[in-house]
Amino acid sequence: MNKISTVSELEKQFLESLFDSALDIKNSWPNIEQIGTGKTVCLLFWEPSTRTKLSFEHAAKSLGFKVIDFSPSSSSIAKGESLEDTIKTLLALKVDGFIIRHPQDKISLKIQDLLPEEIFFINAGDGSYAHPSQALLDVFTMREKCEDLSKLKVAAIGDIKHCRIIASQVEILNKLGCNDVKFYGPKDLLNNNLTPCSSEITDGCLADRDILYIIRVKHERLKENESIDMDHFKSTYQINESFLEKTKFKGSIMHPGPINIDLEISQDVAISEKSLILNQVENGLYTRAALLQIIT
Ligand code: CP
Repeated sequence: MNKISTVSELEKQFLESLFDSALDIKNSWPNIEQIGTGKTVCLLFWEPSTRTKLSFEHAAKSLGFKVIDFSPSSSSIAKGESLEDTIKTLLALKVDGFIIRHPQDKISLKIQDLLPEEIFFINAGDGSYAHPSQALLDVFTMREKCEDLSKLKVAAIGDIKHCRIIASQVEILNKLGCNDVKFYGPKDLLNNNLTPCSSEITDGCLADRDILYIIRVKHERLKENESIDMDHFKSTYQINESFLEKTKFKGSIMHPGPINIDLEISQDVAISEKSLILNQVENGLYTRAALLQIIT
């Protein structure tokens, strides 16, 4: 397999071998096998990114790949060139693989069909649909905290509806034996396909959870008829010391980033000992290097 649009096609054996490779890379960083020598990867990001783009770039260069950083806004896309013709042009320039982020839901599936068999591809996030490498690095990080994932209890809170990570994360967790994920957020930001879910934050409701995965409100993905009462969001769902006290949450805090301080999370919680936020960023480097190693 050399194209990753979603995590659906990834089997348990693939996931375990990916996490083993990511751990090997972590333990030997920065001395890693130069499997990318002679190959070129193109980063094509239609949406802003810090973590995903830079960790893929750093991972690819550390593996010996040449990296082309393609910026749609300063390319001929601004003169009307289509995504399809852009990809054909880059293929003519002898690119061996693509890592693509795009605002359109499910465009990764179209891109996957467009590319020749030998060209590798990783979806770096498409609309609200999928962000497989983020879900992989999150579960890798959870596994560092709890090796036996069948015992792990997770809660996700915030904008579940527009999040492109959470469904993939649950799919990976299920494949690896974790079936205990609960979802919290305002009614309008929950997803009926992800249950059990609740808008109520009751006393002690997170007492048994090991991980609290925080999701910011994805304002950039709200439709015209969707509006969020941010004052209500902050007062009910912001993760701060009083929230942790009320819910009796004692586990680890995760957030895919970027974080919005004093909206979905307070500064003191973000930098507390409970926070794995920067561990996630670091593990993104190793997990993405392992992904490139396995699929190229
Ligand atoms: N989590 C995530 O995808 O971050 P970036 O948008 O910075 O890549």
